[in-house]
Amino acid sequence: MTRITVKVDGVEYSDDVEPRTLLVHYLRETVGKTGTVVGCDTSNCGACTVHLDGRSVKSCNVLAVQADGHEVTTIEGLAGTAGSDGALHPMQVAFHEAHGLQCGYCTPGMIMQACDLLKENPDPTEAEIREGLEGNLCRCTGYHNIVKAVQQAAAAMSGAVSAGAGTATAEPDREEVTS
Ligand code: FES
Ligand code: FES
Repeated sequence: MTRITVKVDGVEYSDDVEPRTLLVHYLRETVGKTGTVVGCDTSNCGACTVHLDGRSVKSCNVLAVQADGHEVTTIEGLAGTAGSDGALHPMQVAFHEAHGLQCGYCTPGMIMQACDLLKENPDPTEAEIREGLEGNLCRCTGYHNIVKAVQQAAAAMSGAVSAGAGTATAEPDREEVTS
């Protein structure tokens, strides 16, 4: 066993882990962050996406020991990180308002990846959003409204539309992601 110390959602944890323990299993089973989910365990679906030192990673593709001494943010710690004192992050608000989810299983990973995308590119085109999310799969095929949600969040975060006051409309149509 190896001792690791990781700051998760602002709280420091020190735990003994096996060298082979995946970060996603450490987060869920040891730290209790079950908001981060496992969709495939083979780094294909993106459901397990978290931020490691502020950048998105698929936590089934990272060993817990690799996070030793680093900072992890999960979907459970995202609220308040946009300086909103505990309120939902604008990306969470946008996914809610634009109906960017159906079963919700992909949503934690989608939101974490989308936040990283906007950090890199605060004003992405639709094509850039689709390309930025291509590593995240939605088995409900709800990509249309997911893209709308990211557009709404980008507008809110740029100040063009205040968070929570977006005007994106929900559309029930489904489509495959294209890039
Ligand atoms: Fe990590 Fe699917 S569970 S990419
Ligand atoms: Fe069901 Fe995306 S909303 S997998």
